[in-house]
Amino acid sequence: MHIPVISSSYLNIMELMYQSYIPRILNAALEVGLFEELSKKDLSLSELSDQLKADERIVEALVDLLIAIDLIDEDKENFGLTAMAKDFFVQSSPVNQISSIQTYNGSAGPFDNLQEVLRNGPPEFNDRMWASKEVATGMERQNLAGTVQTVTQFVKETSEFANCEKMCDFAGSIGYYSFAFAQENPGLISHVYDLPEVAELGQELKSGEEHRDRVLFHGFDMNAEDSFGKDYDFFFSSHYLYELNFRNRLTDFFVRVNRATRMGGLFVSNHIAPPKNGEKYPGLAIVELMTRGMGYPTHLLSEADLKAALSEAGFGRFNTQFVTNVSVYPFLLLSAVKTKEV
Ligand SMILES: C[S@@+](CC[C@H](N)C(=O)[O-])C[C@H]1O[C@@H](n2cnc3c(N)ncnc32)[C@H](O)[C@@H]1O
Repeated sequence: MHIPVISSSYLNIMELMYQSYIPRILNAALEVGLFEELSKKDLSLSELSDQLKADERIVEALVDLLIAIDLIDEDKENFGLTAMAKDFFVQSSPVNQISSIQTYNGSAGPFDNLQEVLRNGPPEFNDRMWASKEVATGMERQNLAGTVQTVTQFVKETSEFANCEKMCDFAGSIGYYSFAFAQENPGLISHVYDLPEVAELGQELKSGEEHRDRVLFHGFDMNAEDSFGKDYDFFFSSHYLYELNFRNRLTDFFVRVNRATRMGGLFVSNHIAPPKNGEKYPGLAIVELMTRGMGYPTHLLSEADLKAALSEAGFGRFNTQFVTNVSVYPFLLLSAVKTKEV
């Protein structure tokens, strides 16, 4: 694989595609009566969830999106309708557009069961959802449309990367980040750790690829506490740490990473992060609603949580870049260095 050189941006198209989810989401909100409830009076999250008899964490993510697209206002702990929602989404308004909005309801996307999820909560999460050829190659393609380039540039700008020789691409799917880093550092050997079926897919799909001799796939299951190797001078983690943080297991995990990394070794994280200034991004809110609706706890990992856990686990010398112009959701790139044994 060669890192594609891109002269345009996929972001605009991606934004349009994401917006195509909105009619289904708005209709689920209409169907459960969310706008009608809030038209009676402003409500807190738990009051609103009670009134709707809906799952509170899903309502929270839905409300967050409705704030981002200017249909709900937040005042302290309470939510109310904006002028636009009062005009167009409430039955008693003479200019309500509900029946028109209902005609935009056709979809076969991730929100088709939102109403059901609001009522009954999400299904049990399928942790094998990324373990198919279609999903893995789809993720690769999406990452290659700008993100791999941005992440690779960030990694290259660290003073450690050029001298790194042994890398762990943790939960690295079929290795697209490893191939990009291997292209930029001819002395680097990357060990991609992922579920056994994904490691097999990587071996199969990447068999003829350039730099294949320096990208090695290993099957492992994090839930079985399998080993993920040792003596790394570069540890890379992309879009995996959300659940560990949600379950307060991030520091313990970073202690394991510390023990698998040499002193002075580089750690780089690529994860979706909430903006520090509270700015709202519809794409970010859509991803979070989709995530929770699938039964996965969150797709957000804050800079503060990441730094706190890394510091406790013997990492320091942080460097960050908050990226908002590549994808519909902002993501945080963070580099750190192992400064202490723990
Ligand atoms: C969201 S994908 C991220 C893939 C890649 N790192 C990226 O940034 O595009 C999460 C990855 O974690 C892997 N994964 C999920 N559960 C796992 C487990 N229990 N043990 C090891 N890997 C797991 C999945 O197979 C998948 O490749």
